[in-house]
Amino acid sequence: MPTLVVNVDHVATLRQARMGIEPEPVSAAYLAEMAGATGIIVHLREDRRHIQDRDVELIKKTCNTRLHLEMAATKEMQEIAIANMPEMVCLVPEKRQELTTEGGLNCIGNETKLEKFLAPLHDRGIRSSLFIDADPKQIEAARAIGTEYIEIHTGHFADAKDIHARNAELTKIIEGIKLAQGIGLKVNLGHGLNYRNILSFKDVPGIKEYSIGHSIMARAIYVGLDRAVRDMVQLIRTFAD
Ligand code: PXP
Repeated sequence: MPTLVVNVDHVATLRQARMGIEPEPVSAAYLAEMAGATGIIVHLREDRRHIQDRDVELIKKTCNTRLHLEMAATKEMQEIAIANMPEMVCLVPEKRQELTTEGGLNCIGNETKLEKFLAPLHDRGIRSSLFIDADPKQIEAARAIGTEYIEIHTGHFADAKDIHARNAELTKIIEGIKLAQGIGLKVNLGHGLNYRNILSFKDVPGIKEYSIGHSIMARAIYVGLDRAVRDMVQLIRTFAD
């Protein structure tokens, strides 16, 4: 059965709006775990716009499931990952001006660089995932890099303007999942998934994890985080193995 890994960046976004001490992402991570999340994700951005270094440290220390650290492939982030030992790192491209991660990582032509970047993390037992578009060439390149997981970017599917565009994106993702699984990669999905559009993946077998933040935090404003996480966990529990 696929599982849910909850991204708590938005809790930090709200805290940073006042540069204060609340709400506390560490508490959100704890509540998400209590509600059935199998892991917690934080994206430590270079500009520290939401998650701060202390959040990574504290969540790693207090988390009872797994911490996944989303990060750019920079020396600074590599050192932070080694210092904190998350269970997994997910490499994402990062642009300062973007509202959120906009596109997948470009693995093509960067195979050697990314393999070298990941080597010290793999040596220490940290697993890796590469956040990529459902492009066969990117998937093949990710395989060549030697990552265990990829996370296929579902943002273009989620943002599609009409049903035709959405179906075309869905087909690309489903083909990408099959290709990746066929060459031995484990596949996670994430970005822009909510309680409705995630149902498109209900019958797609072999997906390991869903990485979800925004829609859960948006629902949590009205119904509370416990209920918002439980609702998503319950949905995903009905999905194909
Ligand atoms: N996966 C990756 C790589 C991301 O960058 C994000 C956004 O931080 C997510 C998943 C979660 O996306 P959303 O907040 O839209 O659920």
